[in-house]
Amino acid sequence: MSVNKILFVTSEIHPLIKTGGLADVSASLPKAIKALRRDIRILLPAYRSVLASIGPVQEIATFTCPPASEPVRLLETHLPGTSIKIWLVHSPAHFDRDGGPYLGPDGHDWPDNAERFTVFSRVAETLGMDQAGLSWRPELVHCNDWQGGLAVALLSRHAVRPATLFTIHNLAYQGLFPAETFHRLELPPDLWSMHGLEYYGQISFIKGGIAYADMISTVSPQYAQEICTPEFGCGLENLLRHRSDRLVGILNGADYKEWNPAKDPLIHQRYNAFSLHKKPANKTALQQHFGLTVDDTVPLVGMIGRLAEQKGFDLMLDALPQLLRQPVQLIVLGSGSRQLEEQLRQAVATYPGRVAAHFGYSEALAHQIEAGADIFLMPSRYEPCGLNQIYSLRYGTVPVVHRTGGLANTVVDATDETLRRGSATGFIFDEPTPAALLAALDRALACHRQPRAWKRLAYVGMQQEFGWRQSAHQYAELYQRTAALATARKPG
Ligand code: ADP
Ligand code: GLC
Repeated sequence: MSVNKILFVTSEIHPLIKTGGLADVSASLPKAIKALRRDIRILLPAYRSVLASIGPVQEIATFTCPPASEPVRLLETHLPGTSIKIWLVHSPAHFDRDGGPYLGPDGHDWPDNAERFTVFSRVAETLGMDQAGLSWRPELVHCNDWQGGLAVALLSRHAVRPATLFTIHNLAYQGLFPAETFHRLELPPDLWSMHGLEYYGQISFIKGGIAYADMISTVSPQYAQEICTPEFGCGLENLLRHRSDRLVGILNGADYKEWNPAKDPLIHQRYNAFSLHKKPANKTALQQHFGLTVDDTVPLVGMIGRLAEQKGFDLMLDALPQLLRQPVQLIVLGSGSRQLEEQLRQAVATYPGRVAAHFGYSEALAHQIEAGADIFLMPSRYEPCGLNQIYSLRYGTVPVVHRTGGLANTVVDATDETLRRGSATGFIFDEPTPAALLAALDRALACHRQPRAWKRLAYVGMQQEFGWRQSAHQYAELYQRTAALATARKPG
């Protein structure tokens, strides 16, 4: 019998609340699983901005949930445009406030994040055990990132329980809190052990997921291997190696309904692989919008992402003076670190008409850069999967990426051989250094000077299929395997 009822536990979901790729995945994976005729339901905190953006909601349950002092209410809504149920954890003291899901308006972590995501995980446990009076018992609970880690740990303590899958989207964010916090969270004392939540004297939420899940997955095969090494394991490599027989990598997909240049309502001129000659109209519009010199012949490099060390914006900034010795333009869209923003502002001031940036979050600009740029640069130091390089391929915007994580799994480096075979889709560099980045960009710019070769590269990229269908089948199989493992370990 196939696993049918799945509770998907996530702290963000597009278009309701988003800080990164987890939101995209949390919308498109459940849709793809639903298309496989599974009954998947989503659990999400009732953040103030989510409550403000959805219509009327129905309250379906109320229950006490330590460490929340007031009863928690469960509200039901739907993922926009679908019949997939979203259950919102309404605990006003924890989630109904201005600011982001994890950070306050001052840009710092909410001081009560440990309490907030303990309440969230407790609710996941209650629903997983069908103890909220809903008469719906999931066979599997699929938790994501540190915010859902405790749910896995809490569920593991029940003799008869649903299977648990824990997906790591980014190992660097671990939900680490001081040891004193543990007592405030009213958690079962036995979870505090070096084989449990304790991590060098602190409490680690992500460790709850990794140590106790029946299966662990991450978002690309390459990252699944990398996180078992000291370089990428963020201190958890030994535990991950120990559990490597339970660890798999499944590549994220792109939602091609949203990211398709032939149908994209947010771009200036639509096009497809057979009408690539229309793409430059998007470049002109972008150059105009950003105040760059309007010139179709100058290669335009785009970058989009969180301004964080992970994404390697600093590598690009170090390479910039040398890069700009040749005709090339750069557009950056990002938000995050104030320091990186300041450095980028300086670059914009130093190279007027050639470098431009927009700071903040803009879905429309993200689509317009994907459509208008010639080259998409992603020099991430590490990248569990990465979505923008996948979107770039579909938009015929050739990616230049560091060989790491999902970037290595999705881009095929242009070598003599791959060009001859017709499998090349971009340019890859091996070391996260400004020099290596420059060398890869130089290769890309040289190819851009040969219009036929460039067009071929863009065309091959546009034919690549990284949709959710294939990944959803892999998840469905993984759900099956996870449930079998959970059944095997049950007492009696
Ligand atoms: P991560 O989850 O590490 O941030 P991903 O590549 O998986 O990286 O996903 C990032 C998602 O967020 C993409 O959909 C990307 O377009 C979007 N994004 C990131 N920064 C911005 C921004 N400033 N404006 C609009 N979209 C952004
Ligand atoms: C994380 C990763 C990113 C991945 C996304 C969705 O935020 O940094 O590489 O694509 O999660 O899984």
